[in-house]
Amino acid sequence: MNRFLKTGLIGLGGISRVHLDALKNLESARVIAVCDIDTQKLEKARLETGAKAYTDWKELVNDPDVEIVHVLTPHYLHAPMSIYALRQGKHVLCEKPMASELSDALSMIEEADRSAATLNVIFQNRYNASTVALKHIIESGEAGAFKGARASICWHRTAPYYTESGWRGAWRTEGGGVLINQSIHTLDLLSYLGGPIKRVKGSVSTDLLAGAIEVEDNAHAVFEYENGAVGVLHATNDYAFSAPIMLEMAFENGVWQLWAEKLFKLEDGVPKLVTSGESAAHLGEKSYWGASHKTEIEKVYDCILSGKPFEIDGRSAFPALALVKGIYESSASGRWVELTKV
Ligand SMILES: NC(=O)c1ccc[n+]([C@@H]2O[C@H](COP(=O)([O-])OP(=O)(O)OC[C@H]3O[C@@H](n4cnc5c(N)ncnc54)[C@H](O)[C@@H]3O)[C@@H](O)[C@H]2O)c1
Repeated sequence: MNRFLKTGLIGLGGISRVHLDALKNLESARVIAVCDIDTQKLEKARLETGAKAYTDWKELVNDPDVEIVHVLTPHYLHAPMSIYALRQGKHVLCEKPMASELSDALSMIEEADRSAATLNVIFQNRYNASTVALKHIIESGEAGAFKGARASICWHRTAPYYTESGWRGAWRTEGGGVLINQSIHTLDLLSYLGGPIKRVKGSVSTDLLAGAIEVEDNAHAVFEYENGAVGVLHATNDYAFSAPIMLEMAFENGVWQLWAEKLFKLEDGVPKLVTSGESAAHLGEKSYWGASHKTEIEKVYDCILSGKPFEIDGRSAFPALALVKGIYESSASGRWVELTKV
């Protein structure tokens, strides 16, 4: 494939490093515009990429040369930026979560339906070697019927991580805490691998980080799949370090555990290695993020250039956000909540 897309990046904070590194090595991409309201970050990115620099994100979107916009900004800006870009006919690759509110996510999907351009969302852990291998085992029929899941997300976030960011820790700008930010990848895998989730009962609290944040630093939930299987989830940002996430998926013919890029199968109750993926540490990513941004970005570009739909569009990314918001609603009401469908 000779053609490439001309890319604009909005938001040049932590995750932009991962996108820029991935894009640098892609034949199908040329970074031609960068944007941030922080002029120091903007100048650094301009010098690194040689791209046009904008402080006003609408000007970047309206740059006639820009064909695809990566939305790498705080959560509450994902919807307005993505919707505006789609309206101008620009493809969008939006970081997770697709939006901070369900109503915004639905508006993004509606806009994408109206637009000739496409809405694509980052959930890079779908492309980890462990996820790809287990998805194959499920689709081949080897696993048999799905029985249940458990997920444990124990990470470490301190008060300065929130207070110094200007947007994390507040409901309006982050849209939640450990669930919407750190856990949403795992919530996505729970339905990507297990199937649609019907209802949830859960509870969230602000504990160790009380005083620094208004969102939750702890959460637990029980949820029921449409096929009757049951899942359980525990998430915290109060652990001593950011441990690898553990996701266990139980099927009729076996129990598999995903530990980041590694997939294990329980044999007599003991995990035996099935697949060992590339370690994220080699790629300069924090290992608990997963290593697969480059894989996902490459697939998005290949799909756009060849006119094929990419699998993680707005509809595909929506269920993870619906589960997050279902847990918040259940925590407030003390009741089971039926998940919003799209
Ligand atoms: N996929 C992953 O594993 C992963 C990992 C980390 C972060 N993320 C996501 O990436 C997004 C950004 O996170 P981050 O850690 O880079 O945050 P960050 O705070 O480091 O960076 C956000 C950047 O957006 C800029 N910004 C804010 N308002 C803007 C505006 N109006 N116009 C232009 N720029 C603006 C800020 O100045 C900042 O540089 C979030 O959605 C986050 O959840 C994803």
